Amino acid sequence: MRTTVGIIGAGPAGLLLARLLHRAGIDSVVLESRDRGHVEHRQRAGILEQGTADVLRAAGAGERMDREGLRHDGIELRFDRRRHRVDLPALTGGRSVMVYAQTEVCKDLIALQLKEGGPLLFEAEALAVEGAAGDRPRIPFRHQGREDVLECDYAVGCDGFWGVARRAFPAALSRVFERTYPYAWLGVLADVPPSHGELVYARHERGFALLSMRSPSVSRLYLQVPPGTDTAEWPDDAIWTELGRRLETDDDWRLERGPITQKSVTPMRSFVHEPMRHGRLFLAGDAAHIVPPTGAKGLNLAVGDVVTLARALVHERRTGSPDLLGTYSATCLRRVWQAERFSCDMTTMLHPAPDGTPLDARLQRARLERIASSRAAETDLAEAYTGFPLG
Ligand code: FAD
Ligand code: DHB
Repeated sequence: MRTTVGIIGAGPAGLLLARLLHRAGIDSVVLESRDRGHVEHRQRAGILEQGTADVLRAAGAGERMDREGLRHDGIELRFDRRRHRVDLPALTGGRSVMVYAQTEVCKDLIALQLKEGGPLLFEAEALAVEGAAGDRPRIPFRHQGREDVLECDYAVGCDGFWGVARRAFPAALSRVFERTYPYAWLGVLADVPPSHGELVYARHERGFALLSMRSPSVSRLYLQVPPGTDTAEWPDDAIWTELGRRLETDDDWRLERGPITQKSVTPMRSFVHEPMRHGRLFLAGDAAHIVPPTGAKGLNLAVGDVVTLARALVHERRTGSPDLLGTYSATCLRRVWQAERFSCDMTTMLHPAPDGTPLDARLQRARLERIASSRAAETDLAEAYTGFPLG
């Protein structure tokens, strides 16, 4: 098989890159190791920055998002049984975010790709990337039990944290920056209208809790738990009781309970691989960097990477100049590090560490109080939450 851009992975990064290239008349092939149902149903991110929503619209993939997504103009911080609303548009010159799940973004992009775009092969596992430093990278892959090779002008690893593309970087070139956090998130989906109209990020001595949503009738909720927690340790009643405790306020706010339809545990890490390019191989999204989920940045960063890469590939095809491909890694990394900083700040402000001291607890509270009492501090949060500009 032969194509211009060989894309490994059909998560948000790979699917959107294929879509952007197709719109610019550049052909690609997407290899995805899992089946379509798996990609369309795994529960992950839920918040799109305004810039991400704009990119999806411009790519012709925003129609259902605009119909079914929920525009949110604020988030609530809860601590010491108090509530503080952050008014996003008022602090950012009108910017907001969109609640529209990653599952839905992927469904929309897959449907468009299968209808209009180049080949998208499910159950096609890339085994390696070969010859990245040469003129014609090769991606050996296994599809439905048969081995084949995808030859391309450029290879792009959109294959997530556990993918193969990163391994093709020479050890002498790679620099890895990493931290794992001493807690994880237990996430649940529940068939109950969200108990609050906007997202609630809560710090409590017992641990962090997050109230989010997927639609006006489906809630998405998270609890801080120890790493390695098994969902079997958390019966539904225990989850509701714990959420109720951590989200409790001094006023008459109440958490509504409903049937829990899904549970999963997500570890939390900060991770950056530098650089994001080696010869004709590029990394995008989780393949290159991971943020802890507290700032809702992971999916949005993946979108920023592929917009930058698509622009650079189109520029090279149209003008013959490799300049933008040459600056791809540095351009993305500037934004990546801002998101890493913000996600780490939000995480460490809102999660009591298991070995945290009383001093740490007071400092977390002081950081929250600073946001609640200083327009400058609150603006800093609102700007980061609604999204950093593309470089
Ligand atoms: P992915 O979505 O991981 O896609 C990579 C794709 O590559 C996958 O489909 C995978 O099957 C495929 N693949 C891997 N190896 C190969 C191979 N060898 N050959 C072919 N295909 C391959 N972010 C938030 O903002 N909020 C959240 O609540 C949140 N929750 C998360 C929960 C979990 C369990 C995880 C893993 C991530 C979560 N994230 C969250 C992060 C967010 O979902 C990611 O940042 C986003 O999915 C990144 O998109 P991506 O396309 O780069 O990678
Ligand atoms: C969701 C996930 C996040 O990490 C976050 O910060 C906000 C919302 C969600 O899955 O809805």
